[in-house]
Amino acid sequence: MEKITFNSLVVEETQKNQFTRRIAQRSTDDLPDGDILIKVHFSSLNYKDALSATGNRGVTKNYPHTPGIDAAGVVISSKKGDFAKGDEVLITGYDLGMNTSGGFGEYVRVPADWVVKLPKGMTLKESMILGTAGFTAGMSVFRVIQDITPQDGEILVTGATGGVGSIAVSLLSKLGYNVVAVSGKKDASDFLKKIGAKDIISREDAADKSGRPVLKSRWAGVVDTVGGEILATAIKSALPWSVVTCCGMVASADLNINVFPFILRGVKLFGIDSQNCPMDHRLQIWRLFSDEWSLSYPDGFCQEITLNELEHNIALILKGMQQGRVVVHHNHN
Ligand SMILES: NC(=O)c1ccc[n+]([C@@H]2O[C@H](COP(=O)([O-])OP(=O)(O)OC[C@H]3O[C@@H](n4cnc5c(N)ncnc54)[C@H](OP(=O)(O)O)[C@@H]3O)[C@@H](O)[C@H]2O)c1
Repeated sequence: MEKITFNSLVVEETQKNQFTRRIAQRSTDDLPDGDILIKVHFSSLNYKDALSATGNRGVTKNYPHTPGIDAAGVVISSKKGDFAKGDEVLITGYDLGMNTSGGFGEYVRVPADWVVKLPKGMTLKESMILGTAGFTAGMSVFRVIQDITPQDGEILVTGATGGVGSIAVSLLSKLGYNVVAVSGKKDASDFLKKIGAKDIISREDAADKSGRPVLKSRWAGVVDTVGGEILATAIKSALPWSVVTCCGMVASADLNINVFPFILRGVKLFGIDSQNCPMDHRLQIWRLFSDEWSLSYPDGFCQEITLNELEHNIALILKGMQQGRVVVHHNHN
């Protein structure tokens, strides 16, 4: 196939542990082998992309590299699987953007078994407003609603203005749950109310310092995106037979609790791994988002940017300052 040149964000290690980012021309010959070549129209910015873009070797081992764990676009050629030229598709997770050139380039080449056909009723852009963050929120909410109904009580969402948190708040609210949002952003209450939070508590109030093994119980469910003291407090404050999900570690990867919430209150703690989510569950979550979970967003929820504007947004997300979602639009001029 004829070589195509295109724009990419390229992260380079200029000196040991010093990384720079620039927009560079690359070609399809630079992409890894794979079954399906995709012209990417949209990607999105996730916390993990910011780690990859700043040289975090827990995410990306080898540089130069193009991050972007999400991509949505059109199949250019396919050697395998049930995909044809022109199909609209999306990819979230697997190795995309980690050690496989990702969606911050205008083309990706990937194995067929990473690729999801764009669900009917969803546009490429809508799929990337969700992206990995939304998909992870969907997996978390799916876990909670298996056991918990809106009548069972309030659901706590932590990191509530961030990507995963804000989609979780929006979705739970759409499904009729009373959502209490934890946020560190003092001026975010209008935003959180608009996406459906009934109540807001500060990070400080959400992190108990007493060291007690269990606390007064309040939450019928918890979608945690931050880890650390806030997750520990949420587990200790969960109602009997409640469901807690855990996906992130922006506050801390540590979890300092003991077994009492589990053996005295039957609290269930579920880990969420969106990267390696099995394909049948993956398709189920995407289908739900295209149908009964279809979300509408208030003005300002999603910011659409180009590759050139990534630098600023990477800095913001690393400082915990992202609010809502950032979609990257490739113009293919
Ligand atoms: N397991 C998985 O499959 C999976 C998938 C996606 C993401 N994740 C993880 O989930 C986490 C959130 O991802 P994201 O893309 O939603 O990131 P994000 O957009 O940056 O959102 C994280 C939010 O957490 C809050 N926060 C930031 N720093 C904090 C701190 N030090 N203490 C407490 N809260 C803090 C902020 O919200 P407020 O200002 O509102 O508090 C921030 O907006 C990350 O750790 C990411 O790696 C995991």
